[in-house]
Amino acid sequence: EQEEQKEQLLKGKKVLITAGPTREKIDPVRFFTNPSTGKMGFALARQAARLGADVTLISGPVKLDTPSGVERVDVTSAEDMFQAVMERYHDSDLVIKSAAVADYRPRTTYEHKMKKAPGDYAVEMERTKDILLELGERKEHQYLIGFAAETQEIESYGRKKLEKKNLDAIVINNVSDEGAGFGHDTNVSIWLTKQGDKQTFPLMSKDELATNILQKAVEEMKGESL
Ligand code: CTP
Ligand code: CA
Repeated sequence: EQEEQKEQLLKGKKVLITAGPTREKIDPVRFFTNPSTGKMGFALARQAARLGADVTLISGPVKLDTPSGVERVDVTSAEDMFQAVMERYHDSDLVIKSAAVADYRPRTTYEHKMKKAPGDYAVEMERTKDILLELGERKEHQYLIGFAAETQEIESYGRKKLEKKNLDAIVINNVSDEGAGFGHDTNVSIWLTKQGDKQTFPLMSKDELATNILQKAVEEMKGESL
């Protein structure tokens, strides 16, 4: 019976989740990326589906199976992810941006493989769009949750992102913690909301953290009678 109740928590809600890294190409055989494996976003998608949500998971290149009952959209670059998210934003009730989006991309992407030459080589980089910042600017009815990856001044840097990006809540991960963050099965995080709620989540599995985040979000969304 408890399981049944659990399943109702996000029933009828449209949940949009992003996961994984992005790849920014230099040429057909080279790209910039980061160590994200997508585990956190996939855990969120899996748990949201279990709670009865209608889940769309927009994922960068990862080696994970799609959780059952989840609609998955694969993307490669930050620009692809931006397009995929924007197309679905208006129809979403809850949006969780756990992807590790590249902040920069090569200014030029070459059509053909570059040949190496003697001496050094410098790549000029330009900024990608900050997807989450744009979501915050265009926010309507959506409950918007961001992530922050920090290695120092964890809480204050995270709080700045919450404010700057007009989020409803943020999950701040200390990515220099032992056994947590990129590629691990566990995370250590701080949950902060716009309303001033703060909770520290100790080292736990990403599936457990996902459940905690979704429970918090449901409580907050109820409070705002969404
Ligand atoms: N994010 C995004 N688009 C980007 C960069 C980041 O949507 N181009 C989102 C991430 O998905 C995450 C949040 O912004 O939810 C914070 O990402 P993070 O890398 O921690 O912060 P940045 O704002 O990029 O700042 P910095 O990397 O300089 O700390
Ligand atoms: Ca960043």
